Amino acid sequence: MVMGISALLHLSFLLLLLPTVALTANINLETSMRASEDSLPWISSSGEFAFGFRKLDENPDHFLLAIWFEKVPDKTIVWSANGNDPAWRGSQVKLTNNGALVLYDPQGKESWKRPEGNSKSSSAAMQDDGNFVLLDGNSKPIWQSFKEPTDTILPGQILDMPTHLTSRRTPGNYSDGRFQFRLQDDGNLVLYPISESTESIYAPYWASGTVNTKPQLVCDKAGYIYLKETQGTNRIFNLTNVDMSPMQNFYHLARIDYDGVFRQYSYSKEEKCNLSWRTVRKYPEDICFAITGNAVTEKMCEQLCREDCFCAAAIYNGNHCWKKKYPLSNGRSSTSVNRIALLKVPKDGAFRLFEEKKDQSTLILIVSVLLGSSVFLNIFLILAIFLAVYFSYHKWLLQSFSSVSGGNLRSYTYKELEEATGGFKQVLGKGAFGTVYKGVIRSDAKRFVAVKKLDKMEHEGEREFKTEVSVIGQTHHKNLVRLLGFCDEGEHRLLVYEYMSNGSLASFLFGISRPNWNQRVQIVLGIARGLMYLHEECSTQIIHCDIKPQNILLDECFTARISDFGLAKLLLADQTRAARTGIRGTIGYFAPEWFRKATITVKVDVYSFGVMLLEIICCKSSVAFSMGNQEEEALMDWIYECYKGKQLEKLTENDEEASNDMKRVERAVKVALWCIQEDASLRPSMKKVTQMLEGVIEVSVPPYPWNLVPLQVLVFIVNELFVIVHKES
Ligand SMILES: *[C@@H]1O[C@H](CO)[C@@H](O)[C@H](O)[C@H]1NC(C)=O
Ligand SMILES: *[C@@H]1O[C@H](CO)[C@@H](O)[C@H](O)[C@H]1NC(C)=O
Ligand SMILES: *[C@@H]1O[C@H](CO)[C@@H](O)[C@H](O)[C@H]1NC(C)=O
Repeated sequence: MVMGISALLHLSFLLLLLPTVALTANINLETSMRASEDSLPWISSSGEFAFGFRKLDENPDHFLLAIWFEKVPDKTIVWSANGNDPAWRGSQVKLTNNGALVLYDPQGKESWKRPEGNSKSSSAAMQDDGNFVLLDGNSKPIWQSFKEPTDTILPGQILDMPTHLTSRRTPGNYSDGRFQFRLQDDGNLVLYPISESTESIYAPYWASGTVNTKPQLVCDKAGYIYLKETQGTNRIFNLTNVDMSPMQNFYHLARIDYDGVFRQYSYSKEEKCNLSWRTVRKYPEDICFAITGNAVTEKMCEQLCREDCFCAAAIYNGNHCWKKKYPLSNGRSSTSVNRIALLKVPKDGAFRLFEEKKDQSTLILIVSVLLGSSVFLNIFLILAIFLAVYFSYHKWLLQSFSSVSGGNLRSYTYKELEEATGGFKQVLGKGAFGTVYKGVIRSDAKRFVAVKKLDKMEHEGEREFKTEVSVIGQTHHKNLVRLLGFCDEGEHRLLVYEYMSNGSLASFLFGISRPNWNQRVQIVLGIARGLMYLHEECSTQIIHCDIKPQNILLDECFTARISDFGLAKLLLADQTRAARTGIRGTIGYFAPEWFRKATITVKVDVYSFGVMLLEIICCKSSVAFSMGNQEEEALMDWIYECYKGKQLEKLTENDEEASNDMKRVERAVKVALWCIQEDASLRPSMKKVTQMLEGVIEVSVPPYPWNLVPLQVLVFIVNELFVIVHKES
């Protein structure tokens, strides 16, 4: 009996451990890890830091071997081994039998190794301070990431001179960027721009002025950064001259950023919303004025740019010259700036002529090779192409399966979900595809979930379900509701999502208390970014097809999260038919293409977004508006009339906050009117929409959105629906 209970306890203990990540403070020889999404990183014993592979945004097959803050939601990277040389999927990092930490490419070739000499470690550890160490038999470090920094320093890190940090290329590109933070041989701490082509350094734009000293750069355990004499405790120079927030409530780091500014950041562990790294101190104070160009005349400035084939423009301020290359970035406007911009433009036709000639000769070459080769060679070529396509298709099939079974998604049994939802009792909502229930997964720290029970599907096979689920599972964005797992048992098909505590945008927007204008602006930006991600940034493009306030959920911080994406394809092989029969969504949000035999593209989502944007601006539901209005005027027409008649204040009546921000209101209305253009090709992409809303690019005057008289459109829609409803019943 006693034995039985203890065995049971053991079992439940093991079960508790299973879904969490194994904490590996010490790594033994022969331990290895592969570069893929589902490889488990090596985590420090407190769980604060992790060492492992991180997928890079630009290429889904590129991985960075890195150290990051495991508990910060965006998993901020603080160190990397191979920023200039990303590892391909399938690469492996291993603490070898010889006591070296080695990164192998997928062919097994060594591409990075520490320690570089012949010394051997007998174990490794990911420490709680963010330092990854290789230890000898006496637990003394023989190599540590703290002594080989990339662009970041952490509390507890001490650097001896000479040493340097190099900025990244861009926030998401970890290859060497254009700025360096150096502690030089002469004791001076200096910020330098580096030449891209020659890697030589230009004149410094900031220096501590501590020449002829012998300092160490210290970031102490409380996060204060200073230069101190190597021998002794005397501080020579304080970089942190403000009070740091206490370590128990804050994370700290300092980094030479891609824009050349050395910033010290802190991050609150306690705040739940509006999470971000906040700048505590920065050097130089204003980078725009810190970097001085060459002192020259205007004529010389022009000449400098002409001679440099990377130079696209030069800025001249009367005695200094700044050369700029594409893409021009990080600009800012200020009334106090008085400078001349010299732009380089190609001589007319010079480039085109060159390129045309090249294209033609390539074409001729290819054609002559094809014509000149023997019949056998052609057959061989066709066979080779066929085999290549066949194998890559199979590889793709395998991949999509393995990422469903492994990966970040959990597979649940029907029974588990029945228990989690208490027998499918509490209904959260009913959508086009099925009903959503509230549940709680007991094994997962009592996490609330939303379980969507999908309606019976007709033609869908096993493979389609798995493929679609794996595609949805691979989309991660802070403005999308995250899929946690699924259940696929016979006819039971369920999806398990994060639970969103603040309900849907529909109830928030059209409820009793109107959300404030700034909150609405943030929500709009969030939706735009989420849609942009679905359309342009995730590996498989996803058209949502059903954007409306009911499908936008709000999390505990009132961040907008798009739900129900990726389902159109999953449930209705013939999604076009579905929309055309009006099963899904409300008519008002449907783009005109749905009612014609036109191709469905991402622009249908842009249209629906536009309608919703108008609703968010004036907190009015387009459906309720046309029903409650005597003249049966549509919300869209009313807003267009207000815009044309320069009476936008009518939209924001009784909304003081919005009335005081009419510039932004007008911009949002203009963007919305572009989005609801009847001609899909006139509608902007979601990327452009986001940029216009952010104020990054100008919004031109939108044309009248409809080709047809609006009333006719309405009749047309109603007729079509009417016919179809008859057919269905
Ligand atoms: C990062 O930028 C460099 C230089 O522009 C480029 O060569 C490299 O391909 C980029 N890396 C990635 C992962 O895109
Ligand atoms: C740096 O700060 C410490 C602690 O606030 C102070 O004792 C020291 O005098 C400062 N040193 C310099 C050079 O400013
Ligand atoms: C969120 O943080 C930003 C910048 O740190 C601040 O400007 C903004 O007011 C904060 N918003 C809220 C709701 O606290």
